[in-house]
Amino acid sequence: MNAVSVEHITKTYLQKEQKKEKKVTALDDVSFTVDKGELFGIIGPDGAGKTSLFRILTTVLLADSGKASVEGLDVVKDYRKIRDRVGYMPGKFSLYQDLTVEENLNFFATIFNTTVKKNYELIKDIYVQLEPFKKRRAGALSGGMKQKLALCCALIHKPSILFLDEPTTGVDPVSRRDFWDMIKKLKEQDIAILVSTAYMDEANMCEKIALIQKGNILTVSSPEKITSEFDQPLLAVRSDDMYQLLYDLRANKAVKEAYPFGAYYHVIPEDANKTKELEAYLQQKGQKDLEVKPIKANIEDSFIALMKKND
Ligand SMILES: Nc1ncnc2c1ncn2[C@@H]1O[C@H](COP(=O)(O)OP(=O)(O)OP(=O)(O)O)[C@@H](O)[C@H]1O
Ligand SMILES: [Mg+2]
Repeated sequence: MNAVSVEHITKTYLQKEQKKEKKVTALDDVSFTVDKGELFGIIGPDGAGKTSLFRILTTVLLADSGKASVEGLDVVKDYRKIRDRVGYMPGKFSLYQDLTVEENLNFFATIFNTTVKKNYELIKDIYVQLEPFKKRRAGALSGGMKQKLALCCALIHKPSILFLDEPTTGVDPVSRRDFWDMIKKLKEQDIAILVSTAYMDEANMCEKIALIQKGNILTVSSPEKITSEFDQPLLAVRSDDMYQLLYDLRANKAVKEAYPFGAYYHVIPEDANKTKELEAYLQQKGQKDLEVKPIKANIEDSFIALMKKND
């Protein structure tokens, strides 16, 4: 049995725009499965449909059509049973801002008919970091601490599957790394975890990922497999005038794509064998301290290519 199975799910919304109603497709015939105990990432930009998908799977939103199940239970018929089994950390901050850390946790334990004491083992590693602030109102916590508390609250009824909607958005890089460490530890306890993110680099933290754009799933695979399937030549290019360099690259017909990546531009040339010609062209344009080197695609290169294809 799959932890999650999604078959042809479509979800549309009616949006009012200057008195006219417009139909927006948030999820367009989406299908995929998640194995038991898998750490599965849903990666996609703003408005891709991530939250709609999570809300359907956690039974708080109905799809227009299609079928979905969580641990073999139907999201429509068996919604009560599903709610007992899933932990859901919504993207937008879900805690009670006026309650303290401790009160929030007790509250979430109580609504699931359990106690903090009973399931303390599961949250212990995370909660010890929060303990010094247990009398502080949730609203007065830092971003990283809020995320930790929200995760504790989503875990306190010992779910067998976790849905984390953009848990690292707006969190500083160190806290982001901490958060992924915590998620990996939870995975060792056989909890299936679905996590959404708009940060493409976080794809590498997952065992499997679905790339979603405008309600369509572009690919479902392991990060390694996705990058190994990148089928175009790729160069990293830099110089001492990065601003002009991008302009020069994009003005060259032999350049299919050029986009910033760290201290370089990643460039997809029309022809892998004409690197020397490209270098000569850039030198002739007056580029100094030029560096042009062939590289292997990373997950972000793969995503950019897939998204361009789908656009
Ligand atoms: N309640 C709603 N009413 C109308 N349109 C909606 C509603 N919720 C979402 N949408 C639209 O559906 C599309 C998908 O939104 P959704 O929130 O599922 O995406 P997302 O990937 O979670 O985006 P974000 O990164 O902004 O969280 C967007 O175009 C959004 O504007
Ligand atoms: Mg969202």
